[in-house]
Amino acid sequence: MKIATNTPLDKILDDGIEDDAITNLYGPAGVGKTNIAICAAIQAAKDGKHVVYIDTEGSFSLDRYFQLGGTEELLKNISFVEPTSWKQQHAEILRLDKGMEKKGVGLIIVDSIVSLYRLELDDNNFQVINRQLATQYSVLSRIARTLKIPVIVTNHVYGIRGEGKEGEKIEMTSRTISKYWSKALIEIKKTEAAGHRLAVVRKHRSVAEGRSIEFEIKEDRLKEVKLLGII
Ligand SMILES: Nc1ncnc2c1ncn2[C@@H]1O[C@H](COP(=O)(O)OP(=O)(O)OP(=O)(O)O)[C@@H](O)[C@H]1O
Ligand SMILES: [Mg+2]
Repeated sequence: MKIATNTPLDKILDDGIEDDAITNLYGPAGVGKTNIAICAAIQAAKDGKHVVYIDTEGSFSLDRYFQLGGTEELLKNISFVEPTSWKQQHAEILRLDKGMEKKGVGLIIVDSIVSLYRLELDDNNFQVINRQLATQYSVLSRIARTLKIPVIVTNHVYGIRGEGKEGEKIEMTSRTISKYWSKALIEIKKTEAAGHRLAVVRKHRSVAEGRSIEFEIKEDRLKEVKLLGII
């Protein structure tokens, strides 16, 4: 089943994100990942679902939520979780494994899954931290698959961490983990026109790779500019 995000992404994903998998939105800072997450949360709340919104970097803005059509009433359908350390994030995601069905949860958002990870990571602990990242993904994936609760995670695109081969290896591991566990990968890119963005399907189980759409971040919505087909 597909779940609408009420953004132009729905068009390239054949009506929305899959309910039994992790959809990963990745792209640089300011590209619109949080905007998409907020739109999806509002849509799910409007559809009477409960949303668990894990905000790891304080990027959810109530002002932006209201601009995009959120209401006080719909806020009752959204539970915010705001971990401030990797350890807290890990505990919160493991805790999701319990009691999800009873709460009527219909969407889980983790925005972003890797910001606290990156703060925690160093040359000595990366094996443990990467294992924890994989565990978080496996918990989210199990919830999606067994309970048909769609999961949206966001990922920044960073430069390669550190110098030389070791730095590259550490960074690549997190990317490999994210790619492996996310059944849908959507890249969001900036374009030359101010406020315009491009969403490109990079991996999907039932949609052609490269399918893309240009959209604009407007005050009150993310507005389709042009369906571009395969790029
Ligand atoms: N009211 C608005 N009207 C038009 N554009 C807006 C409005 N509010 C925010 N934006 C735009 O949204 C963009 C920020 O998007 P968003 O916060 O979703 O990015 P992000 O990909 O989540 O970034 P980060 O990786 O830093 O979290 C900025 O370009 C900003 O100008
Ligand atoms: Mg953001």
